[in-house]
Amino acid sequence: PSSKTWSGRFNEPVAELVKQYTASVGFDYRLAEYDIQGSLAHARMLGAQGIISQEDVAKIEQGLGEIMREIHDGQFTWLLDLEDVHLNIEKRLTDKIGDAGKRLHTGRSRNDQVATDIRLWLRAMVDDVVARIRKLQASLVDLAEQHADTVMPGFTHLQVAQPVTFGHHLLAYFEMLQRDAERLLDARKRINRLPLGAAALAGTSYPIDRERVARDLGFEAVCENSLDAVSDRDFVIEFTAAAALIMTHLSRLSEELILWSSPRFAFVDIADRFCTGSSIMPQKKNPDVPELVRGKTGRVNGHLVALLTLMKSQPLAYNKDNQEDKEPLFDTVDTLLVTLEIYADMLRGIKVNKDAMRLAAAEGFATATDLADYLVKKGMPFRDAHEVVALAVRHAVEQGCDLSDLSLPQLQQFSPQIAEDVYQVLTLEGSLASRNHRGGTAPAQVREALKRAKALLA
Ligand code: ARG
Repeated sequence: PSSKTWSGRFNEPVAELVKQYTASVGFDYRLAEYDIQGSLAHARMLGAQGIISQEDVAKIEQGLGEIMREIHDGQFTWLLDLEDVHLNIEKRLTDKIGDAGKRLHTGRSRNDQVATDIRLWLRAMVDDVVARIRKLQASLVDLAEQHADTVMPGFTHLQVAQPVTFGHHLLAYFEMLQRDAERLLDARKRINRLPLGAAALAGTSYPIDRERVARDLGFEAVCENSLDAVSDRDFVIEFTAAAALIMTHLSRLSEELILWSSPRFAFVDIADRFCTGSSIMPQKKNPDVPELVRGKTGRVNGHLVALLTLMKSQPLAYNKDNQEDKEPLFDTVDTLLVTLEIYADMLRGIKVNKDAMRLAAAEGFATATDLADYLVKKGMPFRDAHEVVALAVRHAVEQGCDLSDLSLPQLQQFSPQIAEDVYQVLTLEGSLASRNHRGGTAPAQVREALKRAKALLA
């Protein structure tokens, strides 16, 4: 007969391949520490309520403490035969302390147990991820601070649009990450609720105290409905959606770093330790890290779709389908943590080629809008000014020069309202300085934004 905890009603042992197919211990062993925390809180509550004796509680605490150390020291043997992290730990406990171990599962099911474990684990991971987002934001702030005045072309449609400062551009990513952190902290409120007490699906007939367990485990509240508590994984999906957005933001920045580090742009140089060479082309220095970030974004997006698909057809309450929530979730967290860590360091290794940025901004008629605004300030309706400047740009393209290279008489052919002071608005610095309002690219505003960013991080 099989030693399975639940094998009493079966006539033959589970087929070997089925055992492998249904087991989750190969990955859910990662929940062990949280499984033990949950069990300790549950056991203490059972004791406090007189459902099990205080001697049993003491034995359970001692046994689980030993098991925790065995796991930490790598001395614990995980058995596929015992299916998952929960049954592995429970069996070891019973081997150690006998009947007291067998009483631990009173008023509990693996269904509310696993939901609790994932919530405890994910809550800790949210805090890790947010801490790393903060580190990355600090890197962005440091780099932006060095480049509050550095002019670069701002793009729309990847065509030169208007001058911006590199600091302003970097702080755009600070904002994205700020929302990402907010999203995670908001999701954390819904992660931080206790399923235990729901038991298999309907609750339990023992006089349990769920609030006590919730307090013990640091949960803000209990899940209100037992069927919902054991079956929904919306909090996992929510987290993964937030993760996919973080990766998406980093993927956009990666795309820019890849472009900017191409010799055709030559705006930045990524430190050698983040790049690799080619086995055939001796001259190559490839931006592997940003490329992999871009690539791994697809992987996290895939996990989000996998989890949504996992949930969509499950009738209430728990179904084994839910065991499939773990690998996508674990991989999402692993990918996210390492990506954020590497990124913060990579930004610190970026060298900026101010001359190349400046040249690109100067070459692309980036101040054409400024010329139109100049004419508007002289009384011309904006649409007419737009047309006048378009003709001037066309002329400059034909001449192969920039607007600021045209002489005053040449410019005046397009509008007699143009005067000597036009050259102030045609300069990159003039254009930047004029966008001087909250959220604008003027260096003075970038410095204000940096102050706000630093206050948020402090
Ligand atoms: N390993 C399972 C999971 O991850 C634990 C819950 C199993 N419950 C059950 N009744 N089969 O979902």
